Amino acid sequence: MPCILPLIHQLTGGEHPYRQRRDAALPRLTVRAGTTLGARDSPESVLADRRDSRRIESETWQCHVSDYVVVLPDPRLSAFICGPVFAKLRDKHRTLLVGLTAMKIETKAIHVGRKPEPGSHDVTPAIHLSTTFQKAADGSLPGGYLYSRPNNPNRAALEQALASLEEGAAALAFSSGNAATSSLFQALLPGDHVIAGDDVFYGTAVLLNNHLSKWGLKASYVDMRDIGALERALTPATKLIWTETPSNPLLHVTDLRAVATVAKKAGALLACDNTWATPLLQLPFKLGADVVMHSVTKYLSGHSDVLSGTLVFKETNALFEKVRDIQHEGGAVPSPFECWLTLRGLQTFPYRVRAQSQSAQQIAEFLSKQPKIEAVHYPGLPSHPGHKIAASQMSSFGGMMSIQVQGGQAEAFKLAAGMKLFTHATSLGGAHSLIEHRASVEGAVTHAPPNLLRLSIGLEHVDDLIEDLAQALR
Ligand SMILES: Cc1ncc(COP(=O)(O)O)c(C=O)c1O
Repeated sequence: MPCILPLIHQLTGGEHPYRQRRDAALPRLTVRAGTTLGARDSPESVLADRRDSRRIESETWQCHVSDYVVVLPDPRLSAFICGPVFAKLRDKHRTLLVGLTAMKIETKAIHVGRKPEPGSHDVTPAIHLSTTFQKAADGSLPGGYLYSRPNNPNRAALEQALASLEEGAAALAFSSGNAATSSLFQALLPGDHVIAGDDVFYGTAVLLNNHLSKWGLKASYVDMRDIGALERALTPATKLIWTETPSNPLLHVTDLRAVATVAKKAGALLACDNTWATPLLQLPFKLGADVVMHSVTKYLSGHSDVLSGTLVFKETNALFEKVRDIQHEGGAVPSPFECWLTLRGLQTFPYRVRAQSQSAQQIAEFLSKQPKIEAVHYPGLPSHPGHKIAASQMSSFGGMMSIQVQGGQAEAFKLAAGMKLFTHATSLGGAHSLIEHRASVEGAVTHAPPNLLRLSIGLEHVDDLIEDLAQALR
């Protein structure tokens, strides 16, 4: 564990950070996302100590410096590393995660993980296809990269961006959402017990039931809206509670704060599949989660042309390191091109999701007035049973909904086939609006009623989408 002061001295050629701190002309910068500063230094005591620079100088401050990310635990410490000191850190650590103090998600989506390439200075990063990286004469790695299964510049950049958007300490990128999910499950031990929502994404249940069960992982499923049922399902072996909110495809809303309280009491980890909400609308770490999972395939990459997933960790602890080993050694990693495409898509993600969410609200209101629609499942409707909880933990209600069509499965298929702009296809989160009959995709394990269609609202004009639904319902 390197110490932060020697590290800064080493990187800055001995300049003391406190001298830089007083230069008011320089922007205040935060260096964040990774770990702890000083085991015995609470942020308060560090701030108190900062007033006495002598004391600080003689202190040994410990921090992890992980994958070129130096982390300060409190944004108020941003003044500590500023101005030229920051610039030198950044130049030395090409992939250092940087945030302007109080940087907003739209700005982070564009800047974090990106910086002009040395040499060419291109603003849009290059795609690093090389699987191997040149070593120095002494065998060290001047660029920090050895081989592209453990890491690659495009993936490192993407992981920093994802960690920053979720306000986590670090992220690991995988070749799909399911690869991310199964890597977390693999970090548990045979005999450990997982509790998941009974309407969890069907692929997550398939992983647990058909594959992880064979190496001894136990799983049970509860209605996560029923905290009593969750408490009753706990066993001494429960190590992980897996939530997904809003859920796919029934849009059940889980009270993450309440589940986090149960998880903490039981000593279990809380993971949240945040694919549908995205970090624009919901930040599970703020609600008590320890790990956030995404199918990056969906909103984060956003154009239906990338298959990828991620796990974001609140802390870079032993669990993070274990899952990182599984990522490095298991090798279920996205290619440099997929990382590059995702970083490109991420730049517009907050604007896309905001527009999709606004359109979805209007469409849900329209559909809830249609006599041929039996039910609309959308947490933005005040009639939705999870509306109040969703409003307390989400800033808006997302671009996904499901509807139940009067007349059963045949009528549902007829409606899907009658759409002109909505494409009858699986997946979600892209620019194109999609509609899908879920029960026929999910097969025997489905919880979707036979007359249920799932809608992913795209980026077309909402008036055109409503007109498309109206003509199919006529
Ligand atoms: C909520 C949710 N979680 C996980 C996944 C799995 O992601 P992937 O298809 O990228 O493996 C999906 C895919 O539809 C999903 O909707």
